[in-house]
Amino acid sequence: MDISGMRCGGCVRSVTRLLEQQPHVRQAVVNLPTETALVYVIIPKEQQHSKDHDAFLEQIGQRLTQVLLEHNFACKVRDRHGSTASAARVVKAKQQERVKRLEDALKRLAVAGMLASACFLGHLAHLWPGAPRLLHLLGSPRVHGTMSALALIGPGRKLVLDGFQALCRGAPNMNTLVGLGATASFGISCIAAALPGLGWRTFFEEPAMLLGVVLVGRALEERAQLQASSDLAALQGLLPSRARLILAGSDWQEVPAEAVSPGDLLAVLPGDRVPVDGCVISGCTTIDESALTGEAMPVGKSAGEQVTAGTVNCDGSIVVRSERAGDATVMADILRLVDAAQSRTAPMQRLADSVAGRFTYAMMGLSAATFLFWSAVGTRIFPQVLKGVAPTAVLVGTSSGARRGLLIRGGDVLEAASHTDTVIFDKTGTLTRGKPAIRSITPATPELSAEDILAYAACVERQTSHPVAHAIVSASDAQGLSSHTLDAGSLYQEPGQGVSGTCNGVPVAVGVEAWVQRQMNSLGASTSSRPAGEASRRRGSSNGADSSQAATSQARYAATHTCTQKRGLHVLLLSGDREAPAQAVAAAVGIPSDAVHAGVKPAGKAQLVQQLQKQGRCVAMVGDGINDAGALAEATVGIAMGGGVDAAAEVAGIVLLGDRVSQVLDAVQLSQATFAKIKQNLGWAFGYNIIGIPLAAGALLPSAGIALTPTVSGALMGLSSIFVMGNSLLLQLEGPSHMPAADSPPDKQRSHKQAKSPVCETLMRMIVKLQFINGHWVSPASGNALAVVSPIDDAVVGEIPAGNAADVEAAVQAAAVAYKGPWGQTSGKDRAVVLKAIADLLKKKKTELAKLETLDMGKPIQEAEWDLDDAAGCFEYYADLAERLDKKQWSPVDVGTEDFKTEIRQEPLGVVALITPWNYPLLMAVWKVAPALAAGNTIVLKPSEMASLTCLELGALAREAGLPAGVLNVITGLGPDAGAPLSEHPAVAKVAFTGSSVTGRRVAMAAAKNLRPATMELGGKSALVIFEDADVAKAVEWAMFGCFWGAGQVCSATSRVLVQSSIAEAFHEQLKQRAEEIKICDPNEPECRLGPVVNQAQYDKILKFIEDAKTEGADLLTGGGRPEHLPQGRFIKPTAFTRVKREHRLWREEVFGPVLAVASFETEEEAVALANESEFGLAAAVISEDEERCRRVAKAMEAGIVWIGCSQPAFCQAPWGGMKNSGHGRELGEYGMASFLNVKQVTTYQSKARWDWYPESKL
Ligand SMILES: NC(=O)c1ccc[n+]([C@@H]2O[C@H](COP(=O)([O-])OP(=O)(O)OC[C@H]3O[C@@H](n4cnc5c(N)ncnc54)[C@H](O)[C@@H]3O)[C@@H](O)[C@H]2O)c1
Repeated sequence: MDISGMRCGGCVRSVTRLLEQQPHVRQAVVNLPTETALVYVIIPKEQQHSKDHDAFLEQIGQRLTQVLLEHNFACKVRDRHGSTASAARVVKAKQQERVKRLEDALKRLAVAGMLASACFLGHLAHLWPGAPRLLHLLGSPRVHGTMSALALIGPGRKLVLDGFQALCRGAPNMNTLVGLGATASFGISCIAAALPGLGWRTFFEEPAMLLGVVLVGRALEERAQLQASSDLAALQGLLPSRARLILAGSDWQEVPAEAVSPGDLLAVLPGDRVPVDGCVISGCTTIDESALTGEAMPVGKSAGEQVTAGTVNCDGSIVVRSERAGDATVMADILRLVDAAQSRTAPMQRLADSVAGRFTYAMMGLSAATFLFWSAVGTRIFPQVLKGVAPTAVLVGTSSGARRGLLIRGGDVLEAASHTDTVIFDKTGTLTRGKPAIRSITPATPELSAEDILAYAACVERQTSHPVAHAIVSASDAQGLSSHTLDAGSLYQEPGQGVSGTCNGVPVAVGVEAWVQRQMNSLGASTSSRPAGEASRRRGSSNGADSSQAATSQARYAATHTCTQKRGLHVLLLSGDREAPAQAVAAAVGIPSDAVHAGVKPAGKAQLVQQLQKQGRCVAMVGDGINDAGALAEATVGIAMGGGVDAAAEVAGIVLLGDRVSQVLDAVQLSQATFAKIKQNLGWAFGYNIIGIPLAAGALLPSAGIALTPTVSGALMGLSSIFVMGNSLLLQLEGPSHMPAADSPPDKQRSHKQAKSPVCETLMRMIVKLQFINGHWVSPASGNALAVVSPIDDAVVGEIPAGNAADVEAAVQAAAVAYKGPWGQTSGKDRAVVLKAIADLLKKKKTELAKLETLDMGKPIQEAEWDLDDAAGCFEYYADLAERLDKKQWSPVDVGTEDFKTEIRQEPLGVVALITPWNYPLLMAVWKVAPALAAGNTIVLKPSEMASLTCLELGALAREAGLPAGVLNVITGLGPDAGAPLSEHPAVAKVAFTGSSVTGRRVAMAAAKNLRPATMELGGKSALVIFEDADVAKAVEWAMFGCFWGAGQVCSATSRVLVQSSIAEAFHEQLKQRAEEIKICDPNEPECRLGPVVNQAQYDKILKFIEDAKTEGADLLTGGGRPEHLPQGRFIKPTAFTRVKREHRLWREEVFGPVLAVASFETEEEAVALANESEFGLAAAVISEDEERCRRVAKAMEAGIVWIGCSQPAFCQAPWGGMKNSGHGRELGEYGMASFLNVKQVTTYQSKARWDWYPESKL
């Protein structure tokens, strides 16, 4: 039943009592936050089998409704047959009602607030004799009296009336207490004012102020309730209201989703939510099922596969045949179940509710006693009633469970699950998938590859429906093996034995070994002489383990292991299967052999559960099938895997919609957290009352002179409720304990070590990204992904799309369309607004993005944060330039004649391609994105495959800041696959590239083919020259910063140091000492100054440079390998070599790592010559006390950037770029924006005279 009008624990108690007093009602569970009652009815025997069953229930429903209505609780009985659409409507209606109630509460609060404030100001006047007259007037009893009367009949009327009505009904509640307090002090004050002779004091301000504070509490409570129930509303919002019904051919028409019938064909376009449960008929796509399963990884779907209503179609268009629509969908079922679950309170709340009802009477009695005791004083007791201590926590717990793919059927289940100490896993379907899968293929002869065997086997098996056949065919399809054609009429199948045939003339037999031998002989090919077609399969389990075990055991290991290790749970394995396979699975998933119970029949499973319970254990049973149903029902908590609609799921208390074993742990953890909240709330409420009631009764009045006025009591009461609500809402912040991918299906497993990096544990999830094209997250055309491996400990922490030419095409098209749209025409001022908004968002998300960058490429967290600051600063700077650009439009040029007027316009180029490296993943992109946007271009950004995460975030963040869809598109992928097609795309107006000189050359040539401009920010081998007059300590620090900052992975790193001979020794000594003090550790630690290098390849490359330098004869001063205290991750000690010669590799080539080459010189000329003797020309630095000399050297350096007295600073206002092999063109500053602008001259002939170059004929 949906019931409105309940305000507190007292109301809950009286509704419960009213319902339970009715005949045939066995129990009523009333829930305040959800405003529902679940009524258990005893149906008389004679009615049980009769057709009147429904009529009987209807009759009871009517009677209950009537009883509640008589007691002023409006209510409605829900349709028992669970029309889920109607459940959804109820949820929506309730949500709307709550919003309305919140609005009402706010209105009442506004009026009461004004009245209370006026009274308060009046109060102040008593303390301040010199106050203005108006204040004194406000303080007069008459004004106070009027205010109070207004408060009582205005905003407080409903509350006071409700309280008195409840009292008359014999069911006093919170409102009764507040109403009594307010009217009592008003009444006493009236008497005091009317009969001054009594000498009583007036308390007119109390009712107004009391109502004011109580209403503040009410408004906050309404808000908290609205928030607590919003998850359910959000779930409900997942079901789309419209569907695209296919009428003829591919034409479709939008119809209400409810109007769709089974069998209808629907078009589901990219970005749509699937409107029905059904089967894909054509097309293929990826579907985001996270709303249903909590699994972050989108799932590929093609013809023949099932899709579920409410999930999101990420990319391709598909046609779906409807199987279940509206009420019958799985999502609607979930909605109904979650809603029902929220009506089931935890047993602990029942205790609180029953105390609450009596509490009200006790409080009134105590008030009266206090009144009599203090005889002259008004009511002062306003206790906190034990309201909502559990329901809000249960509501939030079940809702956040639903968000994570955990269907928890109620507060009682949550409470039971929180005590779990034993978990029993059923084997098949739970720890194994229950479906065979190919584990390995062992060719009988070396001439045959495993792929050949699989492809041939799949060719004949494709025609059969045996489960092993499915496994073989899917393995072959998953590997994309080319399919052979089965020769017509050659197929022969023998049940229980196998299948044979000829594929493109090659005989193939698949089945039981002896049968295969026979078949091959009869086909005229002995297995030894014609092995090409043979593939043997073992049906059954000759080696004691079934075929499904291996495929999933690794996947499930993590989860069961975590259960035992992390949570200290006792884990058992239960199986109907024989001992050997059960033991094999147990061994694979880390369950000890003595905890295995094999060969157990369904009834035995339930008995074992009972047995354990008798030993005092709180048992959670995890199963999936009908054979587990008994044990699931028997267990303290039954947990069903996947599906959610079959028999197992019906009896289970918790359904794991994500079908992941690790969700068991999630469920236990969530229930423990929820139950902890309930306990905290109860403890708080009891404690609060124990202290508050004596205080309110004046216990401290005689000794300390402290008494609570009704207003203060009211405020404290409100505070307490807010604490309870707020504490419960904190549950929403509890994250899942596992990393979802850790036990995802085997096909999603990567060969890399699974995530367990410190950072990943903080993030608690795998990062799975899609491309950001045209304002949407889109799957790559290839459907492939690249693993994101954190260099901190080599863990796979996520994946990014492996984009290719098709993705480039889509992104370029989106950018071209966006350019033709309004963005190409916006003024600089408008663009500035968006750029500033992006800067603001970058600042807001700084910490999160910095962490992501550190995780992705190992940069020390403080450096990553600096980069974020710089990135935000860069957007602000270019916002400014964009604004100034408007003023520069139509700027006149003096062309030396009055006849012509020439003006200059600076316009965007169009679609620009930006290709960036990994060392400053976000900042290098921003150096291009910000000026390109400021100039008005649209962008396709291709960040480095080694660190793309923050750039993908930038795409979404810019959209959030208001950048129109398609203006900034981000595609990821390998250089040759995604970068190359982008750089040679004819629709691209300019290519801006940052990266190595080798790749730069390729990109420049690709752009040149289309005659497109390309700016090149390439590698470097910059020199730092230190003269003898320099302060050696300072110079050493700059030298270190110049080469060890960013682990030396900096294009402008001054990785060659030239020290004047006279100070060389002192310099070396200090450099060694200081370098060895550098803190190398997990880059997430704030004090980290040197993190790991980006990946294994880079690590190996740097170590090779170090080895070569040793071989070539340079002296190793310090470092030279992995730090001893960091055995894992790609860490290299800061390394310095002295006496490096100009012919050494280390002196000539870019290392891009923390390796410094030091040489010495005698004279300034020699130093300049050595510094300039390089193929690169990006940067250079000089340190000397002699300013003149510094400027002379700066002038002589062949580089785009020269630093004096320092190394490395970069400012977005100053141009950046190099010469020689370090590239050409400039980024940053005004130059940076100019390179994204087309300068257009507009010349007007303004003379009135004719041009007269071709004199007219005088004829
Ligand atoms: N001058 C500067 O401002 C500057 C700044 C940072 C880095 N760098 C240089 O970048 C290099 C390190 O970065 P990196 O290793 O990522 O460089 P890289 O050249 O390997 O890759 C740079 C980008 O080019 C892409 N790419 C690779 N092959 C491509 C192809 N055939 N066509 C188009 N794109 C292709 C990559 O995917 C990546 O996004 C160093 O040499 C460093 O000096 C220069």
